Amino acid sequence: MSAPHEKSAVPPEDVFVFWTAVPTDLDVSDILSHLDAADRLRAARFHFAQDRAAFAVAHGLLRAGLDRVGGPHSWRFRQMPGGKPVLDGAHLPPLHFNLSHTRRLTAVAISRAGPLGVDVETIAGTRGHQDVAGLVFAPEEKALLQAAGGDRWDDVFFTLWTLKEAAVKATGQGLSADLPAFAFALDPPRLRTAGPDGSGEQDWSFHSSRVAGCRLAAALRAGPGTPAVFHLSEIPVAALSPASP
Ligand SMILES: CC(C)(COP(=O)(O)OP(=O)(O)OC[C@H]1O[C@@H](n2cnc3c(N)ncnc32)[C@H](O)[C@@H]1OP(=O)(O)O)[C@@H](O)C(=O)NCCC(=O)NCCS
Repeated sequence: MSAPHEKSAVPPEDVFVFWTAVPTDLDVSDILSHLDAADRLRAARFHFAQDRAAFAVAHGLLRAGLDRVGGPHSWRFRQMPGGKPVLDGAHLPPLHFNLSHTRRLTAVAISRAGPLGVDVETIAGTRGHQDVAGLVFAPEEKALLQAAGGDRWDDVFFTLWTLKEAAVKATGQGLSADLPAFAFALDPPRLRTAGPDGSGEQDWSFHSSRVAGCRLAAALRAGPGTPAVFHLSEIPVAALSPASP
């Protein structure tokens, strides 16, 4: 899928977005055995099996995606202030990444070009979302929702929400960012204001699509005029448990 700046003279940067659906009642012991001790400890803390499964699938998917883009490595991670995980180690390829998980779907975005954010949300009923929309959306976004009305309201809500969350995950601010202070336009998705960190609209590329009953958005903040091409592909859950050497 191409980015809004595809006619620019600058060659587009690749963003790889991998996704894996999470089956119900999935046995994740194989996937967990390929994660590191810290991730296995985090997985053990989940109360509900489906949340533990989604976590394991997401972190298995992250390693599988990094292997595909950067070649096989023993990937190590550290956290930035604010909690955003990044690669840790001068021996590792200079890749940016981000991940997101719901009980149904997990996604990972990877690129060499710059900081990334990705978000997936299950498209569910609108109960309570009117209140959330009032708190997190900019006036221009509320107008888009109002224009969507009835049948399209849910999809526009989750399209805008996942784009906003992907943007604040790219900057590392997370939900501590001032969400109503920046606004998206749709079709194609693009900023109509400065970004959440005050960056210019030209610094960003976005992708939004519907995958397995969920909304998925990815955001790349690569600097002025750097266009991006988003490559979306599935990695089946069976591919996350490679045979042990
Ligand atoms: C990061 C955040 C937006 C994730 O939202 P979510 O919808 O619950 O979860 P998602 O599944 O989409 O993403 C979770 C993943 O994002 C990544 N992540 C965590 N913190 C992040 C951050 N600040 N920026 C970008 N990515 C982050 C992690 O990989 C995490 O998965 P993991 O815990 O399994 O490793 C949200 O948890 C948040 O805002 N956290 C607080 C950040 C904050 O307030 N920091 C204070 C600044 S000092």
